Amino acid sequence: MFKKVLLSGVQPSGKPHIGNYFGAMKQFADLQEKYESYIFIADYHALHSLQNPKEMKKNIINVLLDYLAIGLDHKKVTLFKQSDISEHTELAWIFDTITTMPYLMRAHAYKDAEAKNKEIDVGTFNYPMLMAADILLYNTDFVPVGADQKQHVEIARDTAQKFNNIFGETFKLPEHLILKDVAIVPGTDGRKMSKSYGNTIPLFAEYEEIKKCVMSIVTDSSEGIPKNVYAIHNLLRPAEELLPLYESKAGKYKELKEILIEDLEKFIAPMREKRKEFEKNIPKLLKILKKGGEKAKKIASKKMEEIREKVGVKIY
Ligand code: ADP
Ligand code: TRP
Repeated sequence: MFKKVLLSGVQPSGKPHIGNYFGAMKQFADLQEKYESYIFIADYHALHSLQNPKEMKKNIINVLLDYLAIGLDHKKVTLFKQSDISEHTELAWIFDTITTMPYLMRAHAYKDAEAKNKEIDVGTFNYPMLMAADILLYNTDFVPVGADQKQHVEIARDTAQKFNNIFGETFKLPEHLILKDVAIVPGTDGRKMSKSYGNTIPLFAEYEEIKKCVMSIVTDSSEGIPKNVYAIHNLLRPAEELLPLYESKAGKYKELKEILIEDLEKFIAPMREKRKEFEKNIPKLLKILKKGGEKAKKIASKKMEEIREKVGVKIY
């Protein structure tokens, strides 16, 4: 029996937070047995916002450590880095040629950048084409991501369909996997938790940092229940357990925050310690990443041969 294919990636653009974990990364670990999994580091995607080679190198290794610390087992999952597989950028170009500008102008990421009046680089504009290539090269069935990436997976589907219509059946249509309960994890200020808002709780935070973040949670409340504290707490404990606790301590924000700090520490500490262990042997981890890249390359290059044949550039 063949397993279905799962693929996802994270950009090496900074420290992961619990929003990244509950929204997307946790699923990578939970589903690694069920699917043939490919999890990669989207380094070329990050290049549009991170143009510092030292930082880039450091961040790539950090994502690898994060993956291992959350429990990805390299024997079950193919771990690799996007830039090791040149087929990703090659296929992105082909997709560029069948996609219109107005279509990509409807992408949220582009619209957000435009709303901020930024001078948008071409990489940001066709970011979804590279993401479509990442996904479609591996005959992916499922893409676990947070809700904000849903549109990108839809773009990958549309692009697959468009290519299939022009050149004949080539790509499978992928589906996103989004966990309903945690679609958007709120940050300490109640907005979406995001690196760019500075409202995060880092996934591998030390105890003191957890304390600081939790104490800064904005306590808007309804009937004495601080909703931002509750929403974050609800990631760790089910409502049946949490509601009676919050009702019995209505209005006692400080006490509720202290309980949340302890619960977060219990949840984070084992992963944090595991990450420190992995950190002791980076050369070994780099070998794992390189080997994963070799495996991914075989699949991607075979698919790319088929694609070159389909578009008619393969003449020998
Ligand atoms: P950030 O917004 O902090 O820069 P990224 O864009 O790097 O996060 O997202 C990495 C992954 O984590 C994506 O799959 C994204 O959908 C998910 N994710 C990010 N923030 C959240 C959040 N607050 N809630 C749920 N998922 C999230
Ligand atoms: N765009 C995703 C993010 O910002 C990262 C990513 C790049 C990705 N390529 C992908 C996710 C392919 C899933 C599949 O989080």
